[in-house]
Amino acid sequence: MKVIPVLAAAAVLTAPRWLPRRVVALRGKVFELVNGDNAITLPDERFGPEKFREIYSHPNAGGRSEGAGLSDLFWYWLSPGPEVHQEHLEAGPRYDDVARTTQRFLAGSSASLAATAARCAAAVLDEQVRRDVTAVRLRDLMMPIWAEFNYELVFGEPCPRPARDLIVGNATDVVDALKCTGLRHPGRRARLTRYLRARVEAGDVVHELPSTLDTTEQVHYLQGTFFNTSVVQLSEAMAHLLLVLAQHHDVQRRLAANPSDERYFSHVLDETLRVFPLFGIAHRITTGDIDVDERTTLPRGSVLCFSYPEYHASGHQDPEVFDPSRWAELSAKDVPHIPFGIAANRPCPAWRLSPLVMRAVAGEVLRRFRLDSSVRHTRSLPSRGPCLLVRRGAPERATAAVLGFLRVRDRWEDVERSLRQLVLGTWMVLDARSQRLAGRYFEPPPGCPAHRPA
Ligand code: HEM
Repeated sequence: MKVIPVLAAAAVLTAPRWLPRRVVALRGKVFELVNGDNAITLPDERFGPEKFREIYSHPNAGGRSEGAGLSDLFWYWLSPGPEVHQEHLEAGPRYDDVARTTQRFLAGSSASLAATAARCAAAVLDEQVRRDVTAVRLRDLMMPIWAEFNYELVFGEPCPRPARDLIVGNATDVVDALKCTGLRHPGRRARLTRYLRARVEAGDVVHELPSTLDTTEQVHYLQGTFFNTSVVQLSEAMAHLLLVLAQHHDVQRRLAANPSDERYFSHVLDETLRVFPLFGIAHRITTGDIDVDERTTLPRGSVLCFSYPEYHASGHQDPEVFDPSRWAELSAKDVPHIPFGIAANRPCPAWRLSPLVMRAVAGEVLRRFRLDSSVRHTRSLPSRGPCLLVRRGAPERATAAVLGFLRVRDRWEDVERSLRQLVLGTWMVLDARSQRLAGRYFEPPPGCPAHRPA
């Protein structure tokens, strides 16, 4: 009779080891259901890494939103204005106009972009980290830096604190919803929209905004691209980079000692984004048939899900091991490595900018602190990267006990968080399904078979 309570106690005590993994697998199943039967995930046994690249680069693998169940979910997460987000616009004149505008904002000289990023980082680090030993969540520490940086890209002047708070509030709300660690707060996002509208109407933006968009759409474009995607992606990428440094002290020492060694930094960043790519899956909807070989055709309307972690793991020895030295002999273009997407099919417009501004910010962090962390490092990093910053030159302190505490707290937080993610994720999937933001947008008006123009 005592067996059941003993088993229950054992299950609870060992939960940190087995529960988070099970919950992640279950969430994967929920998302597969959203996709329906016309979805294909690559690479798989049928389509290996070579076919992955060929199919991803195919001109008919170009549809972004129309016709995929997943779009309703992404549009829900990225609101307001997902229909003018560059990532989700279908090919056409509006897409071209928006993509050209994004390039204009990102086109500064390398030296001035790096200097701006370093200045924003220095100000935020000096303001936020005051003690000799400080426990932080890396993503939270990075958010205000990238909020200030993007504000300067858009408005060409230093970011006032109230604007920074609005931007961080917006970006945090989006990324928490995307990771299913929190629900959306449309009111929080709307506050930033109102602020941006006033600035756009006052003519404060440094570049011309897409002329094919009306004022509301221009505001949504700025909010989606710079104050959501850019802030989130750079904060996530930096959290991964700093966490690997916190857990690989030899790599950290070498980078801290040679901050101007661009080559070594690019090996470390390539390896970080190989093991922890920011995209789990990027999807496309086929706009025409794709003949893969004599026997296989992917019909028009298929939803192709390109799995970055699977692709990045193929073609490497011990792919799960973080080892920047593997890049000393490899060139990123000769191996399965696409951290910024595929050149032939809407790659990241910040492909050039991201590494150079990240190097500048990493330099500011390493100049001030040694990093140490004992937490689990996963690709989606829902923990936001707990980490200890120890000020350089401060009197030596024993940090083993704090690191032990961080480890135990992380394991138990994982249990609570993975259950929360399952519940909130399922709720948002159902809510997005009932709202059908993308589905309704592409529906032809009654009596008219034509699609809405891109
Ligand atoms: C290290 C940082 C970043 C990484 C690893 C990254 C990665 C990616 C990847 C893999 C894609 C292509 C996804 C696909 O094929 O569907 C993409 C697209 C995109 N990224 Fe980034 N990104 C980063 C930073 C940024 C920044 C700073 C911006 C700021 C503007 C940005 C804006 C975009 C946009 C607008 C797209 C959509 C492109 C299009 O469809 O035309 N990303 N990013």
